[in-house]
Amino acid sequence: MIKIGFYQFCPTFGEVRANLHKIAEALEKIEAEILVLPELCTTGYLFTSPDEVSELSEPIPGPTTHFLEKITRRKNLWLVLGMAERDEISKRCYNSAVLIGPDGLKAVYRKPHLFLEEKLYFTPGNTPFRVYDLGIAKIGMLVCYDHFFPEAARALALQGAQIICHPSNLVLPGRGQQLTHVRAIENRIFWVLANRYGTEEREGKKLTYTGASQIVAPNGELLAQAEPDGESVQIVKISSAQADDKRVTAMNDLFQDRRPELYNIA
Ligand code: ACM
Repeated sequence: MIKIGFYQFCPTFGEVRANLHKIAEALEKIEAEILVLPELCTTGYLFTSPDEVSELSEPIPGPTTHFLEKITRRKNLWLVLGMAERDEISKRCYNSAVLIGPDGLKAVYRKPHLFLEEKLYFTPGNTPFRVYDLGIAKIGMLVCYDHFFPEAARALALQGAQIICHPSNLVLPGRGQQLTHVRAIENRIFWVLANRYGTEEREGKKLTYTGASQIVAPNGELLAQAEPDGESVQIVKISSAQADDKRVTAMNDLFQDRRPELYNIA
């Protein structure tokens, strides 16, 4: 059995140091093997110009990942969080998720499906979906709006992902929670949705984030759920191998029953 969970909080826009301090303080009290934090959780979400994105984003590896890997090494923790990445060569910015573990930075995932004004500020990720074997579980990463694409979760599940780690800043009330619940059931995988809460108001724009982070089991059981508002740490014990059993009934195996030759999708 392993302990997996999320930390739901409300980052302060533009205050990377303060947000990291808050994360560090929370991590000190958490006992878990895998923990997921929200999307863009060191910078905040509601950017108003490309210059602002460029200023607040960082190379990976960089100061934020160096800071956090000191904690993950000491606590023997796997951490997945969303952060703004700047590629120092191309100067392009990405809405990324990073996987940092007991041996330091392991992977970077660049969000390919950009939502709303992210399209103005970030470059979409362009690399195939990948599963990471942590020894204790096989995980895949998605960032927020990626969950609207069943192909993304399915690609990870078909590669053997047992847990989807999903940093988010969801804004459509209830929809993300419903959709990720379905994605867990339709792939028979664990799903850790780490959403932020609170409202951001900047230069006449306003977004309210829906909180209600949740952990869903492969059979659809809701193992944990936060309130729509307020900080929340929730940790559950799971057996990651439960996600390897794709049987839906005595006569139905979800993956063996697939008919890809009929789907005709690109
Ligand atoms: C989202 O992709 N931040 C909804």
